[in-house]
Amino acid sequence: MCGIVGAIAQRNVSQILLEGLSRLEYRGYDSAGICCINNQELRCIKTTGKVKNLKEAVKEQGCPGFIGIAHTRWATHGVPSETNAHPHICGNLALVHNGIIENFAELKSQLIEKGYEFKSQTDTEVLVCLIHYHLQTSANLLEAFKIALNEVKGSFGLALIDKNDPNTLYAARSGSPLIIGLGIGENFVASDTLALLPVTRRFIYLEENEIAVLTTDKIDVYTLDGTPVEKSVVESDLDAESISKGNFRHYMQKEIYEQPQSLQNTLLGRLNGDDISLETVVGIDKDTFKDIKAIQIVACGTSYHAGLVGKYWLEELTGIATNVEIASEYRYRKAVVQDNSLFITISQSGETADTLASLRLAKQQKYKKSLCICNVNGSSLVRESDYTLFTKAGAEIGVASTKAFTTQLLSLLLLALLIGRQNNAISDTQNHEILEAVRKLPALAQEFLSYDKEIEDIACQFSGKRHTLFLGRGVMFPIALEGALKLKEISYIHAEGYAAGELKHGPIALIDKEMPVVVVAPDNALIDKLISNIEEVRARGARLYVFSTQDTLIKDDPQTCKVSLPMCPEILQPILFTIPLQLLAYHCAVINGTDVDQPRNLAKSVTVE
Ligand code: M6R
Repeated sequence: MCGIVGAIAQRNVSQILLEGLSRLEYRGYDSAGICCINNQELRCIKTTGKVKNLKEAVKEQGCPGFIGIAHTRWATHGVPSETNAHPHICGNLALVHNGIIENFAELKSQLIEKGYEFKSQTDTEVLVCLIHYHLQTSANLLEAFKIALNEVKGSFGLALIDKNDPNTLYAARSGSPLIIGLGIGENFVASDTLALLPVTRRFIYLEENEIAVLTTDKIDVYTLDGTPVEKSVVESDLDAESISKGNFRHYMQKEIYEQPQSLQNTLLGRLNGDDISLETVVGIDKDTFKDIKAIQIVACGTSYHAGLVGKYWLEELTGIATNVEIASEYRYRKAVVQDNSLFITISQSGETADTLASLRLAKQQKYKKSLCICNVNGSSLVRESDYTLFTKAGAEIGVASTKAFTTQLLSLLLLALLIGRQNNAISDTQNHEILEAVRKLPALAQEFLSYDKEIEDIACQFSGKRHTLFLGRGVMFPIALEGALKLKEISYIHAEGYAAGELKHGPIALIDKEMPVVVVAPDNALIDKLISNIEEVRARGARLYVFSTQDTLIKDDPQTCKVSLPMCPEILQPILFTIPLQLLAYHCAVINGTDVDQPRNLAKSVTVE
């Protein structure tokens, strides 16, 4: 989604802004722009395509200034173009905006009647004109900003500058994340901490409906009705290096390879003999989960798939009925909430608009408590949930979620064990065996990665294919869904995940010699059933790619390509069998020549619904 960077300093800020935009590229965008105040003039440059185009334009044309704002745009209102790119200017004001102004058409008509003219198709240009309009009758820009923001409906993260006041940078947030970065004699604003890591690690998180006024040495925060707010400063544990590609060709590849370490980090300090320490979930005590009678999980995309796996584990290990739902569906229906229900959200970014909206809805419903499983400290979901279980994946830059997913799975397993123990639903022996297995997980993940070359060779056979099916049974069904999502989002090969038992209820009609069918078939309680499904596919002539374990008896024939993966504890299979599917998707994407880390039309952090 769109990215914002703003800076006010006693030095030229244009390189800081451009570097910040580069660091936000992973979020997905189609155009970029920058505006600095120089000699009391607004100098604005915009380009379509990648940030490197903007950097070249700035190098050629120059855009110096001690104060400036910059933006990467992911088109919502109006096509990707230089005219629609941000910043948008009205008179002395320049504005960048993340989010959507829902009543922009109505406001635009009113402003046209008052004599304003518009160049772009965007809602943002309407907003900057609205602020400009109110400035004509207000005591100062802060007043005009507040009046305008109280008139708009929708969501916004904003940064605003005024060429008549080069000593002040304004920012505001409602429904779209925004952070303030604190420097020494300089201050910054951005939609994401990663953008500012080269200049600071000290941050203030703006809450909903807050406005910030920044000078080089002061930050004042107010609510939209003008009440001053005391904010605390949070030190980030990320560093600028956390977003380097190292020796890898793509971020996604690096992040796949980081999984043994990120799984280890997710366990670090959390296992204490046969106990999982209470600090694993921030905010809980030894009785927190004792009365829980039902669990509702809500998430989007890959995080939703993690939730689907979590349902199998939570029901098996806690005996508590667990429901999983896509956030964009949950938020718009009347859910029946059982007494003593726990509401769980799962999100890598902690900023996904639908997941956040579902949490806010859940807080008005009769859930006992809310818990989020999240990778980003300080994110909206973390700040608004009662409890947090942090996945320790580290910064994930590739749009395709990889290490975030496997650490979400591990976190869900730890949570199931914690809840199971508090409810006496799990025996000491079972608990011990699972934790013994969990301790081996990072090393096993490393072993699974060693199949990379074999999987790369297989990926060549997907070249030119248009459609694929991914099959799995039981807890491996959501892994088939995730394998299909990974393949489609980065290689653009159409892929569908199915519960193998559903095959004969429809999808089997698609199968012919042209259709590769990927089967996730580790040795587990359902393997015999799955082998029957494999036979059904084989009988229809499809080429089979079976990801199985070394001892599993899968018929070897020219029609079948079996990848024999290491034997591993059944409880870990969903986590470990994800890795070869990620590698398959990655290599197919590389062979297809797609933009692996920033696939078309996708955004890393989906902050609008
Ligand atoms: O940040 P979140 O985990 O809330 O994001 C949810 C989805 O947008 C995300 O998982 C998306 O599906 C990924 N592109 C999948 O690789």
